[in-house]
Amino acid sequence: MSSVETFSLDDIMALRVRVLRKGTPVTHAQYPEDSYADVVHFGIARDGDVVATSTWFSKECPLQPGVPAIQLKGMAVDDHLQTGGLGRALIDTGMEHARAASAHIVWARARDSAMGFYERCGFVSVGDGFIDEPTGMPHHIVIRTV
Ligand SMILES: CC(C)(COP(=O)(O)OP(=O)(O)OC[C@H]1O[C@@H](n2cnc3c(N)ncnc32)[C@H](O)[C@@H]1OP(=O)(O)O)[C@@H](O)C(=O)NCCC(=O)NCCS
Repeated sequence: MSSVETFSLDDIMALRVRVLRKGTPVTHAQYPEDSYADVVHFGIARDGDVVATSTWFSKECPLQPGVPAIQLKGMAVDDHLQTGGLGRALIDTGMEHARAASAHIVWARARDSAMGFYERCGFVSVGDGFIDEPTGMPHHIVIRTV
């Protein structure tokens, strides 16, 4: 199993666009949170290329106001490596990071198509579904206690 490392935004952007904007007219995947002071981009590289990534930062969950929280965003594994355990490895590292940061919860705006992944990784779906921009895909908020 490849190890999880931290990368720069430049290092992970091509993968984000390739995986998360596939099938959409959108060709960028920059987030306002990429400029947060504590943002960290976890990733896994193979042969010098980043093939799995997710981005973590402190942000309150709208469904649990006042609770110290870290959000994860931009969860992407290259198509040919999906369901091979890389996504779970990123979650494991991110949860350790959240624990070290004294967060009480980790949360995400999860695509319904990826809900099985988040549930297998210990997250619970909360609240009503919504359509997220810019993908136009149905989503739910998911939360895991740290
Ligand atoms: C969703 C994604 C990040 C998961 O990463 P991954 O490396 O494929 O997932 P893992 O192999 O670590 O999977 C962990 C578990 O979740 C399951 N799983 C993975 N993707 C799933 C999915 N889309 N639906 C249901 N279950 C899924 C795996 O089978 C595995 O189950 P197990 O515990 O029985 O072994 C990856 O498939 C991906 O990039 N998908 C396309 C982009 C996307 O949807 N990103 C999430 C945006 S919110």
